[in-house]
Amino acid sequence: MLRRPRRNRKSEVIRNMTEETTLSLKDMIFPMFLVDGRNKKVEVSSMPGIYRFSIDLMLKEIESCMKLGIMAFDVFPAYPESLKDTKATQSYNPETFYLKALREIKRTFPELCLMSDVAMDPYISDGHDGLVKDGKILNDETLEILARMSLAQAEAGVDILGPSDMMDGRVGYIRGVLDENGFSETSIMSYTAKYSSAFYGPFRDALDSAPKFGDKKTYQMNPANSQEALIEADLDMEEGADFLMVKPALAYLDIIKLLSENYPLPIAAYNVSGEFSMIKAAGEKGWLDSDRAMLESLLSIKRSGAKIILTYFAKEFAIRET
Ligand code: PBG
Repeated sequence: MLRRPRRNRKSEVIRNMTEETTLSLKDMIFPMFLVDGRNKKVEVSSMPGIYRFSIDLMLKEIESCMKLGIMAFDVFPAYPESLKDTKATQSYNPETFYLKALREIKRTFPELCLMSDVAMDPYISDGHDGLVKDGKILNDETLEILARMSLAQAEAGVDILGPSDMMDGRVGYIRGVLDENGFSETSIMSYTAKYSSAFYGPFRDALDSAPKFGDKKTYQMNPANSQEALIEADLDMEEGADFLMVKPALAYLDIIKLLSENYPLPIAAYNVSGEFSMIKAAGEKGWLDSDRAMLESLLSIKRSGAKIILTYFAKEFAIRET
């Protein structure tokens, strides 16, 4: 045999030398959940090791993550039912706890990269990502609200806005409003190919944001499709997105590859709540080695073409690096 591929696997040093993909904390964004109040740190029951923090404790958590080398955070707010309404008005109230917290985070740690979520679901009484009328999700009317919340978040000092709503035309609309108001430096990471997925379950527990009727299939993508991802990516390119995101990650590695091979923008992948919780749950049961499963999943996401990974594993990964 002339070709013996095993020769390149024969020692750790050679395996390391021939390794094509490496994980780096520099490529990771840590999603975090914020609640109103003080001194609160409550574990999300379906996400072991992941908490909802009030701002005082979130600042401490961010500080300890930064000491471990995590420099990018994506903060999601969990609103009580009492503050939700049909038009998501809290989303652009400058005195709402989410916007106050974003301001405080950026003021305390100007060097970190702060990402925020742009969508109506945390603030809207029916749990959808857009305005609802007669059981339908309105597109163009929603854009105006998304733009108002984007502007409020940009004013709070956010570095990257993350429109996660999947309304048509939102990236261009938001870009226009940002630029008109002097926020040409605020970036947009578009949730470009966001699929209608069962893997968001634990996240909706964390935020109490599950839709109150129906599902999100008229705006989130059909898991059976890949061509549509190209249309979405074309539009986001034209509309001025700075990053393209695929979400979820693991069941959509082909989509990550497709976009990374066809678009020059950095591709991000969201390793979502369900993908995290599956590994954690199986690990707790002793059914698999969750640490190795974590590394293997993250590697596969990177190998498929993602430059950036949003992952609840970021802190765990950081701890094992030190
Ligand atoms: C909603 C939003 C969702 C996630 C991020 N933003 C859930 C949804 O679309 O219902 C999911 C993230 C995760 O599961 O980790 N705008």
